[in-house]
Amino acid sequence: MAPDTQAANRSPKRDFVGIDDLSNVDIVALMELAAGFESDLSGQTHVLSGHILGSLFLEPSTRTRLSFESAMNRLGGRVITTSEIRTSSLAKGESLADTVRTIASYSDVIVLRHPSPGAALLAAEYAPCPVINAGDGGHEHPTQTLCDLYILRKEKGRIQGLVVILYGDLRYGRTTHSLAVALCRFGASVLCVAQKGLELPPYVVARIVRDLGYRADHVVLEGLDAFFRRPRIEALLLAPDGGEGPGAPPEDPRPLPMGGRGVDAIYVTRLQTERLRDTAPGEPLPCIDASFFRSEPFRETVILHPLPRLAEISYDLDMDPRSAYFRQAAGGVPIRMALLAAVLGARSLPDGGPVTVRGGGTATDRLCPDPTCVSRIEGHYVKPSIVVDARGIARCRYCETNLA
Ligand code: NCD
Repeated sequence: MAPDTQAANRSPKRDFVGIDDLSNVDIVALMELAAGFESDLSGQTHVLSGHILGSLFLEPSTRTRLSFESAMNRLGGRVITTSEIRTSSLAKGESLADTVRTIASYSDVIVLRHPSPGAALLAAEYAPCPVINAGDGGHEHPTQTLCDLYILRKEKGRIQGLVVILYGDLRYGRTTHSLAVALCRFGASVLCVAQKGLELPPYVVARIVRDLGYRADHVVLEGLDAFFRRPRIEALLLAPDGGEGPGAPPEDPRPLPMGGRGVDAIYVTRLQTERLRDTAPGEPLPCIDASFFRSEPFRETVILHPLPRLAEISYDLDMDPRSAYFRQAAGGVPIRMALLAAVLGARSLPDGGPVTVRGGGTATDRLCPDPTCVSRIEGHYVKPSIVVDARGIARCRYCETNLA
């Protein structure tokens, strides 16, 4: 339920909670705006002078937090910050709703990172100023996706028609959830190569299949033995070629010869050990090393990683021009400058910029089954969050978990 504060404030509040809060047209416009800022990073201090960003990071962060803060400084704005639960009133038991309402009275925009999936949506419902999601548990990380699309478009000249591998922990790696949806919205094909037990969550696949008409097909990749050194590499192929058929079932994956197929990018993720709880994942996937580029489909593959890297990519590849992960991190400043300028109304976008619209549905009195969901963590004031939509699908409004 939206509180009174929001009802009273009817002017569009430009929250950026999930990647679907921005249209494709606006994402492209943001990338163009970012390119303009990037060409003269130190000449933009007039854009947001007098504005204050409230930065609330309740999980570790290097790139997201510092690039947001750098972006705000580059635009001439100022930053106030709380980076630890233990130094804020959350440690005294204050609710997230009360915390963000207070921070909103000290700042013009809130950037929130929080360990609970759905926290950014809850914050957006209560804060009278715009809220930007800088990562909510294992759910979404939409501003990282803007960085990912920005670098991909720079490196490859387009997004439509690209073939991109998502690699590693696709279950808890929140960046891959926002990115898979965005890539499919732009017409790319996505091959999900997950560590066993860490596959892309069903609600992400369902969104791509149902809303975008994509096909999700279980496949066995052929012709990649030189790199994988194992006979069977299972993957989920998300392809824009007709959503009618059910696709191959998991128990009967179809062979996918990779011979003549160039892979444009591989997006590598680390194992999200902090979120594993009772999951015991299978054997790790091979480290991306020099042998990777020796497989024919990978000769021109750009390597991306949201960072931090653990042992997924060999340091030997860092100087290779196809390794784009540090350029990807650097792009975080201009793209976040563009987002902040749009959210705070200093720049307009063709479709009006980010705004959180969450479809309704019939509310039930069931609890979200995910004990880490913000609706459970902040359960003393959040109304039950399970809604049944027009298709009869029951899901949590906050973390989007689908119920059987
Ligand atoms: C990612 C995150 O926090 O989800 N990092 C980032 O924001 N660049 C990825 C990760 O922590 O593995």
